[in-house]
Amino acid sequence: MTTPTIKDISGRRIIDSRGLWTLEVELRLSNGSRAWASVPQGKSVGSYEAVCVDERDALRALESVIDPAVRGFRAGDQQEFDERLIALDGTTRKERLGANTTLALSWAYARASAISQGRHLWEYLADLADTDPDFPQLYANLINGGLHAPNDLDIQEYLVIPRERDPEKATDIVLKMYHALREVLVAQKGACGGLVGDEGGFGPDFRDNLEPLQFFSLVAREVGVEQSVSFGLDIAANSLFMEEDELNHLIDEACDTYPVNYLEDPFREDAFEAFAALTQRRGGQARIAGDDLTTTNLERMKRAHKERSINTMIVKPNQIGTVTETLEAIEHARAYGWQVIVSHRSGETTDDAIADLAFAVGADGIKLGAPARGERTAKYNRLLLLARQFRKKD
Ligand code: PGA
Ligand code: ZN
Repeated sequence: MTTPTIKDISGRRIIDSRGLWTLEVELRLSNGSRAWASVPQGKSVGSYEAVCVDERDALRALESVIDPAVRGFRAGDQQEFDERLIALDGTTRKERLGANTTLALSWAYARASAISQGRHLWEYLADLADTDPDFPQLYANLINGGLHAPNDLDIQEYLVIPRERDPEKATDIVLKMYHALREVLVAQKGACGGLVGDEGGFGPDFRDNLEPLQFFSLVAREVGVEQSVSFGLDIAANSLFMEEDELNHLIDEACDTYPVNYLEDPFREDAFEAFAALTQRRGGQARIAGDDLTTTNLERMKRAHKERSINTMIVKPNQIGTVTETLEAIEHARAYGWQVIVSHRSGETTDDAIADLAFAVGADGIKLGAPARGERTAKYNRLLLLARQFRKKD
């Protein structure tokens, strides 16, 4: 059987979950296989992320630069395809073509290749990465603050993390917490208690930055999942104007009062030392995760490793811009002994490829927001489907 090649690519503007234009790409192969991909966009974007260009520039680049350069390229050679995109761009941060452009194409190529091989996307990715698929823990962001909700919370995300890895059982726990939380927030905070922020979590005003954790504890007891969950915080400190002392104080209070064992971006994006001190102090019990600190970027990761800043890393494909570079970052994170958590962005589309990615590499976790809003539930539902596909294979 001859290997199919790229027949053509096309792009269009679509809107993301925050009502902003983003990019969708479709790729057709010579054997008739076709696949699409769309890309998310962040709001609390780290300075070291690859650059996303305006979607109209992305469309022009697709048509005038990329399409002529990839037509006729064979399917199934992800690394070489991505390297071609990287070379066409020629900058360290994808400034010319845009990481949104390269990532949309890279995912569409991966999907089309998988389809033409008669495989699921996760099978294709696991083969590429040479990893054993496994279900990630769910990191469900049930209360939104910071830049993601117009309330008074400084902390951006309050996460519920079921210990259970089976997607159906874990989702069930998240749903129980979500519904009970809504009820108690509406009862105590009025109608606003039931309104949601960018990632589907509730977003009313709170007494202080730790009150959401008090609600989590209350609700976990109420629905009988107290022993089955832990809590996490994405402080997203880069968007805050808090001193490190103040942040450390807040973290200590959170971890000493509640079952919090996950802390993401507890300090600003260049605070490698403050991260290291916290990892030294609390890293035995808690996952200290870099997001804006590391930006899925090998150079930033090397430094974080050298300075022992973290024990966990967030992986966002659009921080770097291709599937190959994302897998490379995951491989390095693992070699450093870090836990790996694949993550969505606040501005999402219904593209569910990150669920395949997290499962394919056996990631320790996946951040996918609350079980609300189509762009978030798409990822939950994809994981539920993968569980079925995987069980059937065994
Ligand atoms: P963003 O934030 O998608 O708005 O950049 C998500 C995060 O900080 O994890
Ligand atoms: Zn983050």
